[in-house]
Order: sequence, then structure tokens, then C-alpha cells
Amino acid sequence: MSFMQVVDLKVHYPIRGGFFNSIIDWVYAIDGIDMELEKGKTYGLVGESGCGKSTTGKAIIGLEKITSGKIFFEGEDVTKERKSRTSHFHREVQMIFQDSHSSLNPRKQIRDILAEPIRNFLNLTPHEERKKIDELLEIVGLPSESKEKYPHEFSGGQKQRINIARALATNPKLIIADEPVSALDLSVQAQVLNFMKDVQKKFGLTYLFISHDLGVVKHMCDYIYIMYKGRFVECGTKKDIYENPKHLYTKRLLASIPSLIPVGREKRKQARQEFEKVYEQHIHKAFDENGRVFDLIPISNTHYVSAASAKEVV
Ligand SMILES: Nc1ncnc2c1ncn2[C@@H]1O[C@H](COP(=O)(O)OP(=O)(O)O)[C@@H](O)[C@H]1O
Ligand SMILES: [Mg+2]
Repeated sequence: MSFMQVVDLKVHYPIRGGFFNSIIDWVYAIDGIDMELEKGKTYGLVGESGCGKSTTGKAIIGLEKITSGKIFFEGEDVTKERKSRTSHFHREVQMIFQDSHSSLNPRKQIRDILAEPIRNFLNLTPHEERKKIDELLEIVGLPSESKEKYPHEFSGGQKQRINIARALATNPKLIIADEPVSALDLSVQAQVLNFMKDVQKKFGLTYLFISHDLGVVKHMCDYIYIMYKGRFVECGTKKDIYENPKHLYTKRLLASIPSLIPVGREKRKQARQEFEKVYEQHIHKAFDENGRVFDLIPISNTHYVSAASAKEVV
């Protein structure tokens, strides 16, 4: 039994228009993806803006209606259960969003923000609740006085810590983190990522870590899914993806990781521009005649690549 399984998931959004506001077309935001997550591991979901990453996270957790497909959690089909905000599944699976600020109610003290999930899911006495809130603040490294403050009194990194504390309040098993550090300064990014790793170890959490940047997830993830136009073009272990990338799109994401080393910057820029030309010439080969990204083909026990046929994978 796998910890979590996503089977042939699709989310299609209708586009309405015309005089009768009828459906004139569809956005295939997610068009048939499969995932298998093991407990305690970190998974990356990476691709450029608009490829369907957030929709995937929201569909798994039940914030987005799914068109078809199934979601299994600890061996149970939770596709229907996801929709109920008070279900067992919602206690076990939490999501953190990129915008640490707008996900915190500005009119509420931190105490009340953290109390909300506790009241929804755990049956605690007021005394136990206060203890739990202090514990949560301690876990995320914020002083106890923080509970009397309001979100605007904290920095971006601290706000993301509060979001993490809130996600941890229900003792979840899986956290879906949608670009949790993208809005933060580089120095703070590393702090929050390290802190997320520590928390993971402590509680045996599983992470689904969403990012548009393969550089950010490199040190976090055991296994990575590369998403392109609502489909996966490649997935594999950290080693498969960083040391033996096969799909042109994966190679492009790797080429676009920003480097902090100033030496050779001009050369790298040139190499990127040349690669971009190759990319433009060949990316059409990623699609079938209907413009749909090809299915994944296994090339090892862990490594899968989208291609028209096995002989297309070089
Ligand atoms: N509610 C919606 N209605 C119609 N299209 C949507 C909606 N939400 C997202 N989309 C479209 O679905 C695609 C995937 O979006 P999203 O999952 O937010 O991408 P990402 O998180 O990778 O940037 C995009 O083309 C986006 O415009
Ligand atoms: Mg997104």
C-alpha cells in the first residue's frame, strides 16, 4: 500500500463566452497525471508558471474540483472525502501557499489564527489549547509573546513560519507546500527550507514541494516530477533528474537555474542563449498531433520520460 496515490488526475476548466455565456472551450490545466508518494519523503513538483502545479496541489487537497481521476490516501479512496472540510483526510493533509501574507487574516491575532485548525479538528480544553499554541510557536522558533501580535508585525520569513505552525497544528502526515519560499529574499529562503527539513525529521512528514525553480528543490527532494502544460514530461530521483536529465524541457529548467557565482557569467549567458535556440527548434517533438504531451515511458525502475516511443529517448 502506498502512502498516497494520484491516478490519472484531470482538471479541465471551462472557458465561457458568447451571447449565452456558454462553454466555448476548455483549459486542460491538468490532463492525466499519476503520482505515488511514500511516507516521510520529499517530492518536488516543478515547471514554469501556468503549467498546472498549483491546480495539482489544490485538486489533491480538495480546493479544486476534479474532472476525473482518483486520489488514494493510506490505501483508501479519498476522492469524495477530500471535499469535506472537516474530514479525517483534511486533518492529515495540509497546504502552505506562496503568499505568506494574504493567507493570514490581518485582523486576527496569531493566537486565534493558530487556534482555528485546533478547534476544527482537535477536541482540546482551553488550557490544552493554550499549551498547544505555545508548543507550535516553539517548534517554529517564534517567541511566546508572538501570540498577542498581528500578522503585519512579522517579516515575510516569520509569516511563513506562522503558516507552517498553522499547518502543523492538526499533526498532519502530508504537507503540500506551494512555492513556500518564492516570495522571500534568498538568504531567508535557505533559512525557511532548512527549518522545513528539521520539522520534517522531527515529525516524519511527507512533503509535496511545488516550485518553478529546479535550483530551489535540489537539496530538498528525494523524487521530482517535471510538469509541462498539465502533464508530466519526466520524473525520477534527484540523481535521475540532475545528473541524467532526458527530456528537453527538463534540460531547459536545469539550464535556467540562476548561479550566484559571478565568474563566467558572460559565458553562461551565451551558452543559455544557444541552448534556447536548440530548445525552440526541437520542443515541438514533445507533443503528439493533438498538441498533447506524450505519455511517460520507463527507462529505469525510478526514471520515466515522456516520448513518442522508447527509441526517441536518447
Ligand atoms: N479557475 C480557473 N479557471 C480557468 N483557468 C484556470 C483557473 N485556475 C487556473 N487556470 C489555468 O490553469 C493553468 C494552470 O494554472 P496553475 O495551476 O495556477 O499553474 P502554476 O501553479 O503552475 O503556475 C493556467 O493556464 C491557468 O491560467
Ligand atoms: Mg502556482
